[in-house]
Amino acid sequence: MKKLIVANWKMYLNRKNSIGFLRNIQYSILNIQLIICPSFDVLAEIAKNKPWGVEIGAQDCFWEKRGAFTGEVSPADLKEIGCQYVIIGHSERRHYLEETDKMINKKLKAAIEAGLIPIFCVGEMAAERKKGAAVKRVREQLKKGLAGLSLSASQQIIFAYEPVWAIGTGNFCPVAEAVKMHRLLKKEAMRILKRREIKVLYGGSVGEKNVLEYLNQPEIDGVLVGSASAKIESFKSILCSIQSFL
Ligand code: PGA
Repeated sequence: MKKLIVANWKMYLNRKNSIGFLRNIQYSILNIQLIICPSFDVLAEIAKNKPWGVEIGAQDCFWEKRGAFTGEVSPADLKEIGCQYVIIGHSERRHYLEETDKMINKKLKAAIEAGLIPIFCVGEMAAERKKGAAVKRVREQLKKGLAGLSLSASQQIIFAYEPVWAIGTGNFCPVAEAVKMHRLLKKEAMRILKRREIKVLYGGSVGEKNVLEYLNQPEIDGVLVGSASAKIESFKSILCSIQSFL
């Protein structure tokens, strides 16, 4: 199975740099699946002009299809402009925008209904890990996020284990610990969704130096890369190291 590389550009790049970025990437890696998640302002343009083989995701969506919801973006509209994926429940939205598990649950359902594949992010805070409550928190996020959600055979959801303390800090999660959390997450998500297979990505300070360590683990189906995916040179180095070793 191909490993997934999700590039979450967050709000790092303006329009010119986003467009220029993709022109600069020689995408010749056939043994991975590459998903780029630009910001909303360039999403349609990038979805229209994306290089062959690259897939596009949004960084968020709203839970309603249409209506008086100022500033929100409908999952149906994302699908229409060529998005296949949408990140939901990212810790930056949970913390800066105070998104709750309940809101995330509604977004997951709406995204799936619109035909998108959600990339559902979960992960504990440093304080929760410190007091030994990491597993409890991730279980709770899964339970609440997936409440009442059932998938048809053709519908999909991808998970991302993103410990909050590892995001943007350079303090990445030791691989053995990430593997442990992935096993738990897979088991739990498979049980809740009654699925035999579930993809789980790792995210949090992934860069060229550690990406292969994660990708070489059978439990880790791919990586979600933030800041290192928004700098041309570092992203190229990540792709290069994957190309030469996978
Ligand atoms: P980072 O972000 O790679 O900058 O740590 C990861 C993420 O936010 O998904």
